Amino acid sequence: MSVFKGLKPILYGGREVWPLIEGGKGVAATNHASSGAWAAAGGIGTVSAVNADSYDAQGHVVPQVYPQPSRRERHDQLITYAIDGAVEQVRRAYDIASGRGAININVLWEMGGAQAVLEGVLERTRGLVTGVTCGAGMPYRLSEIAARFNVNYLPIVSSGRAFRALWKRAYHKVAHLMAAVVYEDPWLAGGHNGLSNAEDPRKPEDPYPRVKSLRATMRAEGVSDSVPIIMAGGVWFLREWNDWIDNPELGAIAFQFGTRPLLTEESPIPQGWKDHLRKLAPGDVLLHRFSPTGFYSSAVRNPFLRNLEARSARQIPYSRVAAGEHTVQLDVGVRGKNFWVTPADRDHARGWAAQGFSHALRTPDDTVVFVTGEERDTIRTDQADCMGCLSHCGFSAWKDHDDWSTGRLADPRSFCIQKTLQDIAHGGDIDQNLMFAGHAAYRFAQDPFYSNNFTPTVKQLVDRILTGD
Ligand SMILES: Cc1cc2nc3c(=O)[nH]c(=O)nc-3n(C[C@H](O)[C@H](O)[C@H](O)COP(=O)(O)O)c2cc1C
Ligand code: SF4
Repeated sequence: MSVFKGLKPILYGGREVWPLIEGGKGVAATNHASSGAWAAAGGIGTVSAVNADSYDAQGHVVPQVYPQPSRRERHDQLITYAIDGAVEQVRRAYDIASGRGAININVLWEMGGAQAVLEGVLERTRGLVTGVTCGAGMPYRLSEIAARFNVNYLPIVSSGRAFRALWKRAYHKVAHLMAAVVYEDPWLAGGHNGLSNAEDPRKPEDPYPRVKSLRATMRAEGVSDSVPIIMAGGVWFLREWNDWIDNPELGAIAFQFGTRPLLTEESPIPQGWKDHLRKLAPGDVLLHRFSPTGFYSSAVRNPFLRNLEARSARQIPYSRVAAGEHTVQLDVGVRGKNFWVTPADRDHARGWAAQGFSHALRTPDDTVVFVTGEERDTIRTDQADCMGCLSHCGFSAWKDHDDWSTGRLADPRSFCIQKTLQDIAHGGDIDQNLMFAGHAAYRFAQDPFYSNNFTPTVKQLVDRILTGD
């Protein structure tokens, strides 16, 4: 096999590996099977340590149920499941890799009990995990935890500025274990996206100058050019990244794939999700802000997402007293008289109520959204069932420390991400759950590699990528 542009292995964890990384994907969208196979093919596989699956004695996935009466107890149960699951996945992945490539784990810093989960997993997987990738938030403590367990860490950032903050405050103290920096393009990558307030979701920026500036920041802090920047987001054919490889301006470069590895034999996602990936067209993936984490994220614009868009569109501002243009009282959807709105919005509300969206739910932004009775019941049940999977949850107002509440009103425009990601990963309706995907997912339909319904093994995919395609 001829390797594209003489792409060379990199030294990682004391071993030569291809500079190709399977990005971690929660919940259960990368597991032992996919990451073990990726490592066995010579790259770096990533076990998702975000509420991973465990197995019973017969090898069946243990359903994660939460009989505990309080959120805090359910949160503790969730941490136990998360640690047990990730440990099991890492052990299996390590066996599959059989000494080839490397196994990383991924955690989200904004997940509930992130530190407890990470420490719990590393404690029980010594010698098996080569590195930890971590994004979603500002994981200042990542370097210190990595040092304690003597594993590499690979921060995920979306700008040089974020890297500088992490480095200056914490990472410079553990420079020797920072094996790479992942640049995750906030307009292209699947899953949660690190767009800052200064960046416009509708104005994608070219990744090249941003990565160049990340490298410049790293150099200014004294980080060697041999520490790779891992480009993540929208990477499909390596030949399209020709200018990035062996480019002195960028230093060492590696590539992370999140969406492409979803469609392999070993990929753990259900068949219906895999089949759907082949049908996507440009524009079918939406960068949106409904996630209860408060971050932007990218997912297939399926009926689930359209429903959230429509719910947010059925929204009107109100005030508690007559003020300004809020001159009339809402007379549908709410009880009580303290909802003053504009006459035009009252007409909208009456129209929605006539269509069956007859319940108005308050949001933290002094607005109400109109939903059906059934939707209202689901929202309330999901909020009541919360098991505290995030450090701060917009949807349920849960917080994983101090007084256990964000102090803000629970937001009915959002949703329980734990419930929906568990559901879709375990065979739930692909139309009624959140289906994360990167913005290049439409390329499955165009890439001849996948024609005639071909699904590669991970090894076939890695070999294909290595050719430049
Ligand atoms: C289904 C899905 C789930 C993901 N979950 C996570 C996650 O839990 N943690 C994380 O750091 N990145 C996550 N990502 C991002 C990937 O690791 C990867 O960086 C990204 O998908 C790369 O962009 P691409 O989708 O264009 O290949 C997810 C991506 C997808 C598609
Ligand atoms: S309501 Fe929020 S914190 Fe609770 S389980 Fe769902 S997503 Fe997680």
